[in-house]
Amino acid sequence: MIKVLLCGCSGKMGGSVISLANESEDIKIVAGVDTVIKSFAFPVFSDFSGISVPVDVVLDFSNSSAVYGVLDFARKKNIPAIIATTGHSEQQIADIKAAAKDIPIFFTANMSLGINVLCALAKQAANILGGDFDIEIVEKHHNRKLDAPSGTALMLANELNSVFEDTYSYEYDRHSKRRMRPKNEIGIHSVRGGTIVGEHEVIFAGHEEVITLSHSAQSKGVFAAGALAAVRFIVNAEPGLYDMNDIISKQ
Ligand SMILES: NC(=O)c1ccc[n+]([C@@H]2O[C@H](COP(=O)([O-])OP(=O)(O)OC[C@H]3O[C@@H](n4cnc5c(N)ncnc54)[C@H](O)[C@@H]3O)[C@@H](O)[C@H]2O)c1
Repeated sequence: MIKVLLCGCSGKMGGSVISLANESEDIKIVAGVDTVIKSFAFPVFSDFSGISVPVDVVLDFSNSSAVYGVLDFARKKNIPAIIATTGHSEQQIADIKAAAKDIPIFFTANMSLGINVLCALAKQAANILGGDFDIEIVEKHHNRKLDAPSGTALMLANELNSVFEDTYSYEYDRHSKRRMRPKNEIGIHSVRGGTIVGEHEVIFAGHEEVITLSHSAQSKGVFAAGALAAVRFIVNAEPGLYDMNDIISKQ
């Protein structure tokens, strides 16, 4: 049985992970960390100090402000960490990458298999189309989401930018500048409303033709399933930085 400490256990993703883990035969949530203490079948702590429960993996679906607590705890216990939270600063991302030199870290803004396939297809399209097509990314999420653009939109933009050797800049929502669109740019646009789970569109707009690749997550269960797959993957991994591509390439 893999023993998991779930940071953000009182949140929406936390609930989804707990339900799926309860149905699984090999993963058990043995403790939680959350600033909001709710009653669960496992003990919940308000921070990482004083957690005495034996743990194999830390899984974080909380808030970017929790990242140093997650990393310090995982380092001290010498166990892997899965960081599924989004909205980290550049410094926090650099620190996550640095910690991966000591412990295994699984870090992805999107745990769904489908979005990672979308990402691979979009990169393939960018490779074929080159700089001739303008790239715009549109993401839509529920009205309770805190960060914008979504971590997934940034992940897609970064992967597409890598095709062009990171020479493209990002333009967010296009309201602040009045000018024609330059070629070496990726537009990123956020929509927030209702209960939308998560939608991402990558638009390649060329001369008199448009290609749109899209993914729609229909429940949070897809992210929870990906998180449990990440738990199984990382529990015996060597120190290093991993993401969904490491799971996909094993399938
Ligand atoms: N990687 C993915 O596939 C994926 C998928 C969905 C959501 N997310 C991300 O996961 C995070 C959580 O999403 P959610 O929809 O469950 O949000 P949520 O607001 O419902 O839950 C977040 C939980 O974290 C707790 N929290 C906040 N700050 C904390 C801290 N410093 N320490 C401990 N707990 C803290 C909150 O009290 C809350 O219970 C967000 O960053 C979201 O973007 C990632």
